[in-house]
Amino acid sequence: MANDGSTRHLISLDDLDDGTLRDIVERGAAHARRAGGPASTASSRPAGTPGATLAGTVVGIYFRRTSTRTRTAFTSGALRLGAGVIAYGPGDLQLNTGESSDDTGRVLSGMLDVLVARTADDPTEMRVWARQHRMAVVNAMSADEHPTQALADLTTLTLRFGSVDGLRVLYVGEGNNTASALTRGLSRYPGVHLELRTPPGYGLAPEVHRRAAATAARGAVVRERHDLAELPKDVDVVYTTRWQTTGTSKPDADWREVFAPFQVTAEVMALAPRAVFMHDLPAHRGEEVSAEVLDGPTAIAFDQAENKMYSAMAVLEWCRGTY
Ligand code: CP
Repeated sequence: MANDGSTRHLISLDDLDDGTLRDIVERGAAHARRAGGPASTASSRPAGTPGATLAGTVVGIYFRRTSTRTRTAFTSGALRLGAGVIAYGPGDLQLNTGESSDDTGRVLSGMLDVLVARTADDPTEMRVWARQHRMAVVNAMSADEHPTQALADLTTLTLRFGSVDGLRVLYVGEGNNTASALTRGLSRYPGVHLELRTPPGYGLAPEVHRRAAATAARGAVVRERHDLAELPKDVDVVYTTRWQTTGTSKPDADWREVFAPFQVTAEVMALAPRAVFMHDLPAHRGEEVSAEVLDGPTAIAFDQAENKMYSAMAVLEWCRGTY
């Protein structure tokens, strides 16, 4: 396994410069177009199978939390590009018996080329694993950010609208790790207007706003409120996420009452008749979104899910420098 000092980690979207962010999104969209899917966003005919750009690569997939989409996306994407895959469940590594994160990163870096990990914990641990220069580390969800979800979402928007530039997006729901990544990603595109409506006490971390303001593209605007008054009209996208990320509950016993007004309903969608509805899934119909909206004609949530695989392929290729 090469040690050429060019190892590329993806632990936060903040790790990517604007050009790299766009390149990965465009590459993911190209994979989707070539594969001919998803049906409602791909505009061209399928043009064959992907090349074996990851032949000889070994990818470790370590998920300490549940996952249907992200784990499968990276596994299937790696296999389709010719890589080998080793999967670790939550109890498999000696981390569980007290081996240090530093030692774990050092050991795995001698055997893996890429480690895709979901911890849903503080991202510091992933940064420790990344203290070596042979194995790329990819954050498949930490407590503060879900960067590969945002890359898949930006890929979906690119396929749907042709460009992310200038899009108007309304996010309704918790300021969770998906919202954090979406904010970090969308604000890097010129002219994007992102309006967030988050329940009181469940907004974006101030650091996310600070970072977005510092790195915003020309004309990009991020605004957050904690009520549903004065919802923006004529947005291109309405986006929400599950209220209990990875199934975890909240310390506040009354949290459901606080969240209840933030359901995306047909009434919310009616304010923006041209908008598509996006959801990172999994969904709870009747909580963050009504069944009518999620299963209705404006929803592209299941396209997002499929695009996670094409986007994962682009992420892995970027990590390995193979495109
Ligand atoms: N959206 C998402 O991350 O889905 P999974 O939790 O199923 O991976």
